[in-house]
Amino acid sequence: MMLRLSTRLLAIAAAAAAIAAGQAVPASAAGPLKDKTNRVVGSAVAAQNLNQADFRSVLTREFDNVTPENEMKWAVVEPNRNQFNWSGADAIVNYAQQNGKTVRGHTLVWHSQYPGWLNNLGGNELRSVVQQHINTEMGRYRGKIRAWDVVNEIFEENGSRRQSIFQQRLGDNFVADAFRAARAADPSAKLYINDYNTEGMNAKSNAMYNLVRSLKQQGVPIDGVGIQTHLATRYGYPSGFRQNIERLAALGLDVAITEADVRIQLPVDQNKLNQQATMYKQIWDDCHAVARCVEFTVWGFTDRHSWVPGTFPGEGAACLFDSNLRPKPAYNRINP
Ligand code: G3I
Repeated sequence: MMLRLSTRLLAIAAAAAAIAAGQAVPASAAGPLKDKTNRVVGSAVAAQNLNQADFRSVLTREFDNVTPENEMKWAVVEPNRNQFNWSGADAIVNYAQQNGKTVRGHTLVWHSQYPGWLNNLGGNELRSVVQQHINTEMGRYRGKIRAWDVVNEIFEENGSRRQSIFQQRLGDNFVADAFRAARAADPSAKLYINDYNTEGMNAKSNAMYNLVRSLKQQGVPIDGVGIQTHLATRYGYPSGFRQNIERLAALGLDVAITEADVRIQLPVDQNKLNQQATMYKQIWDDCHAVARCVEFTVWGFTDRHSWVPGTFPGEGAACLFDSNLRPKPAYNRINP
């Protein structure tokens, strides 16, 4: 007891000294978030932000996994056919290797942020180009990626298949084909399907459940389901989130929270921050309630860099740290 108390006092003193010295504020007297759980704790990052010393130091201190926010997407890595740009992806993978972090690869087959030249391809050619893409990208980082979002966002809200070029030109089987190609390209990576608005029990999460159950039955090499978890305080917490994680786990699949954030209608006030904190804690607790929920990753950790204000005008402040890298109530709630 005495020892715990004095450790805490020492941490507080260190925090005060760091503030006085003008350094990045230590997140919590309780110690880094990543040390508080046996789950993987991750954040999305943009490669360019790794050059910001304070950003990088909080990232390194608090998280044990990074997900490239855009750098591994097809439009970025192969904007023109056979012309590759790996600079951002390499920077993030190198950062991870040098700092003992794992990487979540994001993402191989997605209806968004794919290069325009794919639109000119017919079914047969597109099928082989997708295989090649999976091979090339996964091959480049073979053995360095813990988990891959192989297939992303294939469902509409009503649970029907999204009519992407992959769906329209390759048919339903593009999903199973992608997983088979992925397993062959990097047998050591965990292979996931990933989507949003699939947190609670609803038509879309039912469709996801039915699909992955059938993939498992067919022996398709899939290891897990990613639940993005882009939430908003105004919509409240999705009902049945834990039950949904449980039913996926019961199929023998891992579950990962892959892109968590909880946006707020601006301006921020204490009440909204508290609501946000409660919702982050609910996500954290629901993941920890199920042994096979193996990862808690946020889609950016600081309000300094977040996709939210650009996509939802009037909303923001969705992250665990404010734009000065000070921990918000949400952070303190999950790491008391
Ligand atoms: O890189 C260009 C830059 O050259 C150009 O000047 C600028 C002008 O708009 O755009 C830049 O590209 C932007 C890119 O982010 C990099 O910053 C795109 O416009 C912008 O659309 C893109 O947004 C990304 C979005 O995915 C695209 O759908 C967000 O950063 C990224 O956070 C977001 O991430 C997605 C996940 O991949 C999947 N799940 C949902 C999540 C949030 O939307």
